[in-house]
Amino acid sequence: METDFKHIPIMLSEVTSGLNIRPDGIYLDCTIGGGGHSSEILKHLKNGKLIGIDKDQDAIDACTKRFKGKDNVILYKGDFKDIEHILNKLGVDKLDGVLMDLGVSSHQIDTVERGFSFRFDAPLDMRMDSSQSFSAMDVVNKYSLSHLTRVISEYGEEPYAKSIASNIIKNRPVTTTKQLAQIIENSMPKKVVFSRGGAHKKTFQAIRIEVNGELDRLFESVMYLISKLKSGGRMAVLTFHSLEDRIVKNAFKLCATDCLCPPGTPICICGHKKSVKLINKKPLMASKDEQLQNPRSTSAKLRIVEKL
Ligand SMILES: C[S@@+](CC[C@H](N)C(=O)[O-])C[C@H]1O[C@@H](n2cnc3c(N)ncnc32)[C@H](O)[C@@H]1O
Repeated sequence: METDFKHIPIMLSEVTSGLNIRPDGIYLDCTIGGGGHSSEILKHLKNGKLIGIDKDQDAIDACTKRFKGKDNVILYKGDFKDIEHILNKLGVDKLDGVLMDLGVSSHQIDTVERGFSFRFDAPLDMRMDSSQSFSAMDVVNKYSLSHLTRVISEYGEEPYAKSIASNIIKNRPVTTTKQLAQIIENSMPKKVVFSRGGAHKKTFQAIRIEVNGELDRLFESVMYLISKLKSGGRMAVLTFHSLEDRIVKNAFKLCATDCLCPPGTPICICGHKKSVKLINKKPLMASKDEQLQNPRSTSAKLRIVEKL
């Protein structure tokens, strides 16, 4: 069933085949969004079960509608940072597969009043979970110069972070997406604004990451979910920028490595044993065709591991 939640699932066939789905398995989609990937996973299940989590009530509502009548689908509004608590609450011990499709959905970006995009004018917001009180308005209007510079520099990898942060502070209160976009443009040389073809993207990404705590406990969540996989079970993670990809890569690498003793240690004293194998050494990228059809897939990286 179609819903009015617009999001094109990225690398759909790569994700589905990468999960190597067992028809009777228990699958967890940590970021179900509009249910695009989950719907494909469901096609491969016979007696299996699908658990879908999202922190956005719009996503849970859309999936409730989309999967109406399917008694093998469990939907849960929550944050995957609380995954241990969520799985305990649902009485789920082991999993056959896990998917994380990180970041924002097109629905979130394209819903004007949610204030994620510099393309529309709206009150600054950017909360994935609208029941959370902390929003972009707080980051932009309450942070100190050094704190705001750090957020824009670290999460946006923006070379003009200091100039942007100081202009934000001079122009407070900053309340709308267009106002913020104009301040960002005025904080860098004109030729950079034109050459980048998206002067605002890095700062908007940084503020969004801060508002939603997108990198907080990501490493721990990936590690915990790997520990919950059954032997032969797989975990697939789609990332959209280098910061989250680095965290996933490091977690996967740690779990795919035997000894973690410092180089030169004569015999292993750590006793660490690898628990997964990497299915792809280098992350998979969307095909050129998909990138042309869906520009949001251009920055996607897909990493997959299999539990030993
Ligand atoms: C890229 S979309 C997922 C799209 C989905 N795969 C589909 O095919 O429709 C990412 C979703 O993850 C959710 N999300 C992001 N971080 C989350 C977190 N820590 N816990 C729960 N949901 C999260 C967002 O609200 C958003 O709906």
